[in-house]
Amino acid sequence: MLERLKSHISVNLFFKLTTLMRTKSLSALLLFLLITSTAVFGQLLVDMEATPASVESNQQCFECHTRQIYSYENDWSGLVERKAMNPNYILDSAAFHQGVHRHFACTDCHSPEYESFPHAAEARLEPMYSCMDCHGGDETYEQYHFELIEEEFYKSVHSTRYDDSFDCWMCHDPHAYKAMTRGDFKISEIVQNHNKTCIDCHNDAVKFSILTDSVRPDLALVHEFIPNYNLHLKAVRCIECHTAQEDTMWVAHQILEKEFAVKKCVDCHSSNTMLMASLYKYQNLEARQDGFLNAIILNNSYVIGANRNYIFNIISIVLFGLALLAIAVHVFFRIKNR
Ligand code: HEC
Ligand code: HEC
Ligand code: HEC
Ligand code: HEC
Ligand code: HEC
Ligand code: HEC
Ligand code: HEC
Repeated sequence: MLERLKSHISVNLFFKLTTLMRTKSLSALLLFLLITSTAVFGQLLVDMEATPASVESNQQCFECHTRQIYSYENDWSGLVERKAMNPNYILDSAAFHQGVHRHFACTDCHSPEYESFPHAAEARLEPMYSCMDCHGGDETYEQYHFELIEEEFYKSVHSTRYDDSFDCWMCHDPHAYKAMTRGDFKISEIVQNHNKTCIDCHNDAVKFSILTDSVRPDLALVHEFIPNYNLHLKAVRCIECHTAQEDTMWVAHQILEKEFAVKKCVDCHSSNTMLMASLYKYQNLEARQDGFLNAIILNNSYVIGANRNYIFNIISIVLFGLALLAIAVHVFFRIKNR
């Protein structure tokens, strides 16, 4: 009975909708809704709501790898021993579960040999998967342009100078990587997260010297030519100035030699600011203009020179015209009354 009632209602609804659709305006509206609902940017394919799939099996690893002190049973002595964990091996389980690989088991990427402790010595020599091993040639992830990113990466300074020792994982934390630009984040949060990736290494003597013996330049000194460098770092990303921007891509990966970095202020501080094609690219699509040129920038920061308003422009021209007219009238009567 209930089933029949349900199907009756849905058939009825369908019928009503199709009759309504015959009116042009409604089908246009539906088409519009369809387009806007599929054109939602910032959608991940990964299910970010569900409980992480491997939460239980990973607990075994997190038992030690989230703590400063871990304990284990020594088979030789039969005693439970407590030791300090190498700080580089302490992971943040919450960050892991917010990342794009949140449903993974640790042993999807790491050898199952890690399930026993002490870990087998050979396990650490195992080659790790690269992003391309899993994502290369996969149409599911077409929107990310993995192949293009890889191509750009191979042309970037990091890759040409360090071959294989500098890989994608250097910037993409395997245990916490979030696709920020696809998520629901404010521009300021995206900027902060992206810049942290670079700063964490460029301002960290140890990480930097794992890769090179050359002297690590002080970023604040290098960028002295930018007034208020720290404020700029809150509003723009390193990659705005240090990469060649590619239209199809949201995050440019081709980091150029320093000679090619953007140095000209007007590249950003002008009404055709390059920020519209880089940082604000994804928001641009949905941005309302509100009379402001580059309204989307104004919502986020005040970029001198990049924000002008049509209406103010027109008003100032009209006022200027009125002033000229008043002068003309005044002069006319002065001459006439002489
Ligand atoms: C061992 C295989 C593997 C490796 C290595 C790997 N991924 Fe993934 N990645 C996946 C799978 C599988 C998913 C889908 C997970 C899901 O749906 O729960 C995924 C999801 C993603 C997503 C989210 C896609 C979406 O729209 O939801 C991004 C972005 C991503 N990976 C980027 C990377 C990057 C960047 C690297 C390298 C730094 C990398 N992955 C390395 C297998 C891998
Ligand atoms: C009893 C505590 C304990 C457990 C449980 C544990 N680990 Fe470890 N793990 C360590 C310690 C301590 C180290 C530091 C190196 C060592 O002593 O082998 C380490 C090192 C590692 C390393 C780095 C190896 C290297 O030197 O490059 C990886 C990767 C790793 N563990 C993965 C895992 C995974 C995956 C699991 C779960 C399947 C796991 N561990 C479970 C204690 C543990
Ligand atoms: C998407 C693949 C992936 C998953 C899932 C993954 N790891 Fe890793 N893990 C890596 C890679 C790649 C490295 C090497 C990082 C590097 O070379 O910079 C690594 C390194 C490590 C290290 C050594 C620390 C370091 O920074 O070198 C530990 C410890 C570790 N993983 C533990 C775990 C644990 C515990 C889990 C499960 C909660 C886990 N990993 C899940 C890919 C993964
Ligand atoms: C110099 C640092 C760096 C290196 C090296 C690097 N990436 Fe990235 N990548 C980033 C940053 C920063 C982001 C922005 C994070 C975000 O919001 O998704 C990013 C984003 C991405 C995205 C998401 C793009 C999108 O459209 O949402 C993919 C996919 C990706 N990288 C793949 C790779 C692959 C594959 C490699 C290696 C061939 C690589 N990356 C190497 C820094 C790097
Ligand atoms: C894991 C460490 C690491 C990360 C992460 C990293 N870099 Fe680098 N970067 C280096 C090293 C090492 C060099 C080479 C220094 C040298 O050869 O003197 C370098 C070189 C550069 C240069 C070239 C300077 C020149 O001499 O021409 C630029 C520009 C640069 N990095 C920008 C970035 C940006 C932007 C990011 C973030 C998207 C980033 N780096 C992330 C380590 C890193
Ligand atoms: C406003 C544009 C701009 C921004 C933002 C910017 N840079 Fe630069 N950067 C430059 C320019 C221009 C140079 C070249 C300076 C010179 O040669 O005098 C440079 C030089 C460098 C160098 C080369 C240092 C050396 O002398 O070897 C590195 C490394 C670097 N930047 C990294 C970064 C990182 C990391 C960030 C983000 C935290 C960043 N830059 C943000 C414009 C910028
Ligand atoms: C990559 C783009 C970019 C470049 C290049 C750039 N700026 Fe900016 N600048 C910005 C943005 C974005 C802000 C807005 C910061 C905020 O949110 O207030 C800003 C803010 C400023 C401010 C206001 C700071 C304050 O105290 O309020 C000054 C002054 C400034 N920039 C001067 C310069 C000069 C001079 C140069 C060239 C040497 C330059 N900028 C290059 C993007 C840029």
